[in-house]
Amino acid sequence: MKKITRVLFFIVFFVVISGAALLLMSATKKEPPFLPGITVKDDHPNGCVDCHKKINDKLDYRLNVSLGKLEGHPKIDKIVKNVPKDCFMCHKEGAKAGKLELILHKAHFHNPKDNHFISNYNGACLNCHSFDEKTGSMPVKTGSKNW
Ligand code: HEC
Ligand code: HEC
Ligand code: HEC
Repeated sequence: MKKITRVLFFIVFFVVISGAALLLMSATKKEPPFLPGITVKDDHPNGCVDCHKKINDKLDYRLNVSLGKLEGHPKIDKIVKNVPKDCFMCHKEGAKAGKLELILHKAHFHNPKDNHFISNYNGACLNCHSFDEKTGSMPVKTGSKNW
């Protein structure tokens, strides 16, 4: 082989190999994890009330409405002013109403194949919890009632 042909051969060889490597790398490149407030913008900074709201007359996800349909649930329209802070007045350790975090973790992660919190909101803990970079604490976001 002439020297020039050999050099050309190696250039072509190099281009093909690095092209294939780049393609492979982009195909396996991982999306960053969905962490509202950390890796992506937090669309629900007020927690519950940013999702449980009235969309239109047919779709009303407000908590006073859905809890109002729950048999035996006390009316919360007047007594709950901050969500979920005021839910704790009844939903605390040892009370008949049950602990709020157990009820809510269950409500948002049950039936994973057909759960809209998982399918529509990535099931992210940080939809409800916030992250304080300074202290490391992950309290629950709160918001004023929307009824
Ligand atoms: C990012 C959106 C989002 C946030 C934030 C959120 N929820 Fe939900 N929640 C949902 C979705 C979606 C469901 C329906 C889950 C399913 O498909 O079973 C649900 C279900 C529920 C249910 C079961 C009854 C119902 O209304 O469907 C309760 C009660 C509830 N949420 C309360 C809360 C409370 C209290 C908070 C705040 C601490 C909260 N949620 C935060 C989206 C959200
Ligand atoms: C005045 C007291 C009171 C307040 C305030 C209250 N709850 Fe309740 N809640 C109850 C009681 C009592 C039950 C149990 C009802 C029953 O089983 O008969 C209950 C049951 C529930 C259930 C059903 C539990 C299950 O295991 O399926 C959900 C969900 C719930 N509450 C969510 C909430 C949320 C969210 C808030 C705040 C927005 C709230 N509650 C505020 C008293 C309260
Ligand atoms: C629908 C809202 C919601 C989601 C989603 C959620 N949490 Fe919570 N979580 C709460 C609430 C409300 C509390 C009670 C906070 C308080 O006591 O101030 C809580 C409390 C906790 C606690 C402390 C109490 C306990 O049960 O030990 C831990 C730990 C926790 N959550 C972990 C998680 C993790 C991990 C995820 C995601 C896999 C998650 N949570 C998703 C609402 C949520």
